[in-house]
Amino acid sequence: MLKVGIWLLLSLLSGSGLIIYALQQQYEEQSIDFRILHRDITVKLAQHETILSLLSVTSDPSVIQEKFPQILAWKPLPSAAAPHTLLPAGKGTYWLNDQHFALLIDLNVLLAELPQSHYFRHIRLSWQNAELIELGGRWQPAYWQWDKEVASALQPFELSASRDPDWARLPWLLMLLASLGWAGIIYFVSQYRVQKRQRNIAVLREHFSELTRLNAMGEITTGIVHELNQPLTAILSYNQAALRLLNQQQAHKVPPLLDAAVIQIKRISALLLQFRQKLTHDRVVFQAVNLGEIWSRVTMLLENEIQSGRVNVINRLPATLPPLRAEPLWIEQIFHNILTNAIQAQQHQAASWVAISAVASEQGITLQLKDGGPGLSEQALQQVFMPFFTTRPDGLGLGMALAETLIHRLGGSIKVENIAGQGACFTLWFPFNAQEE
Ligand SMILES: Nc1ncnc2c1ncn2[C@@H]1O[C@H](COP(=O)(O)OP(=O)(O)O)[C@@H](O)[C@H]1O
Ligand SMILES: [Mg+2]
Repeated sequence: MLKVGIWLLLSLLSGSGLIIYALQQQYEEQSIDFRILHRDITVKLAQHETILSLLSVTSDPSVIQEKFPQILAWKPLPSAAAPHTLLPAGKGTYWLNDQHFALLIDLNVLLAELPQSHYFRHIRLSWQNAELIELGGRWQPAYWQWDKEVASALQPFELSASRDPDWARLPWLLMLLASLGWAGIIYFVSQYRVQKRQRNIAVLREHFSELTRLNAMGEITTGIVHELNQPLTAILSYNQAALRLLNQQQAHKVPPLLDAAVIQIKRISALLLQFRQKLTHDRVVFQAVNLGEIWSRVTMLLENEIQSGRVNVINRLPATLPPLRAEPLWIEQIFHNILTNAIQAQQHQAASWVAISAVASEQGITLQLKDGGPGLSEQALQQVFMPFFTTRPDGLGLGMALAETLIHRLGGSIKVENIAGQGACFTLWFPFNAQEE
């Protein structure tokens, strides 16, 4: 809207500038025409006076009238007549008297012979404020008017002419082009500004993503502390059980407990490594990953939760599943987060289950993780991958956001739906040709 306003204003300004210039130009040209007309009339009138002084009784009227058609008639005057007078005779004619002769002059003929007389809308010759002749109908105010007295001793007429501008000769095309030009300039300027804005937005976005990364680091720290808590608790209970067994002289039962503790300790070190990678944005080198192995490791890590929740973990991964090129810790984290949620969603259920299945195609692997919980609420379906979206009182809302980020970094995708009569179903897709970053 503003652009249209500016365009109209600029077009109006340039248009009126062009019109004023063109009108000025026309006025100059027509003033020249008026001066020529005035000069020609002056010359003709002067000729009358010369003829009068040269006339004699023997002059041949036909010769004079041939050369000066405006002289309609001439007659000798009685010597008593008043010399040097002018007598209007109506319809543009007048008698011009000398001492001895009088000429009947027709201004209609005189003016008709002058080319410039056709250029004006109105032409009027008056003498002593009385009109002698008027061409172009009744006198009406026109756009431009010129008045000038003819320098003549016997015929000091006042010449007036008026004319309107030739509107058709105004530079309409130029005005149109100027207006189009303004439209073009406004278009390019606004395009330029849009692009500049987009560049600024891109810079801002980059800046913002850096900020969110820093922000997220704070949250990740909280998350890591939260996550370390669980393996540490597990290690504590394994060690306490091992000590108890040693005291009871049952040393042969200790090694499995220590093995379980070692797994949890490795988990802690893996978490810390992952944490460091996130902080430093280390370059990650992908390696061949066996999804079945990682799933087993994750179920082992969450053994306590699985047992206390009495969750039936169903592994339907085909034994022949081809390996994936990925960072194993990422896959572990993804499985860990989805499995944890599934367990938590079924906390208050008598029978709980989680099932994992996979199908390999030429391009990649499609994984499905289903559970027997209540499924996701309408809002959760929309926002489950948004950072800090949670419905759990002690939730952080980072689990699924992190899983999605990692899946994207592996070139894959994740979506969620509810399955009628069952619970949530997460479908994950991983391509074989993931680019290492
Ligand atoms: N398997 C599931 N069944 C039901 N709801 C789920 C499931 N997985 C995720 N959700 C919903 O998504 C939310 C976000 O999950 P998540 O990002 O892991 O954060 P948090 O676990 O800290 O709440 C959960 O609070 C829950 O409402
Ligand atoms: Mg979670």
